[in-house]
Amino acid sequence: MIRAIYKFLPHFIKKKIVNNLNKNYLFVGWNLKTKTCPPWKNTITQNKILQISCFNDLNEELIEKINKNDFLLNQKNNENKNKIYELKWRHYNVLLSLKYLMELKKEKINLVEAGVADGLTAWFALSFLEKESIKYDHFTLIDSWEQMDSSLLKKNESKQIGRYENNNIEITKKNLEKFKKTNFLKGFIPHVLEKYKEKNMIDWLHIDLNSSIATKEILEFFSHRLNKNSIIVFDDYGWPNHEESRIEIDKWSINKSGILWPLPTGQAIFFNF
Ligand SMILES: C[S@@+](CC[C@H](N)C(=O)[O-])C[C@H]1O[C@@H](n2cnc3c(N)ncnc32)[C@H](O)[C@@H]1O
Repeated sequence: MIRAIYKFLPHFIKKKIVNNLNKNYLFVGWNLKTKTCPPWKNTITQNKILQISCFNDLNEELIEKINKNDFLLNQKNNENKNKIYELKWRHYNVLLSLKYLMELKKEKINLVEAGVADGLTAWFALSFLEKESIKYDHFTLIDSWEQMDSSLLKKNESKQIGRYENNNIEITKKNLEKFKKTNFLKGFIPHVLEKYKEKNMIDWLHIDLNSSIATKEILEFFSHRLNKNSIIVFDDYGWPNHEESRIEIDKWSINKSGILWPLPTGQAIFFNF
């Protein structure tokens, strides 16, 4: 009954109700609602170990870019700004994984993202590498930049068929144009992997494919290309609609030397020893 009434309320009233219900939470977004303190609220502002000091600045910079159409998102709507706030904890974890590598590795690192879309995660990662002067050789970006193909999805992933039809590699390239060491590989996984010619082992792999078959293929392909003390960040690990991906990740990790660390955001990090 309450749900039926709620459905017919005007948007601004719904927003007021939601804001009121969430007012005591310290973070709300991306399936997560918590009263625990988010990591970007530091008690000691100059604590460089705890803090990713540029984090809030990067968020504001991206929102400004989106508002000025300097960074184009596929789903163009007024919620874009909120989307960046809602993704804050996710992006913080991405940057923290890079900070960890930065503290651990003295030499140049190599990075790969599988599942790029408009380049949101990639923008945060590349901006952070630049801000922290982290040396890297290449950042490879792999995506079909086409709608998802039914032949590469399992039966119970059929909701994904046809998604990302508005993806456009030219827009992603424009969004990331200021970063020079990027290498775009366009095509469907696994076939596109034939185009991967990098000789060096990699240190950081971000997997955000919403597809268990592609996730499995990427893991198999990069298994023997992972440096010691490298990191894999899984975006889809804990999401109920990506259960199939979680099964593949669990199966892959079972005999690997490392630790799979699930996070409340639905992400998981594999620390490769
Ligand atoms: C959730 S989106 C990636 C979002 C991106 N990481 C971001 O933060 O904006 C998932 C992407 O995976 C790509 N994808 C899914 N299956 C694929 C496959 N078999 N080969 C290549 N790309 C694939 C889709 O095209 C889509 O762009």
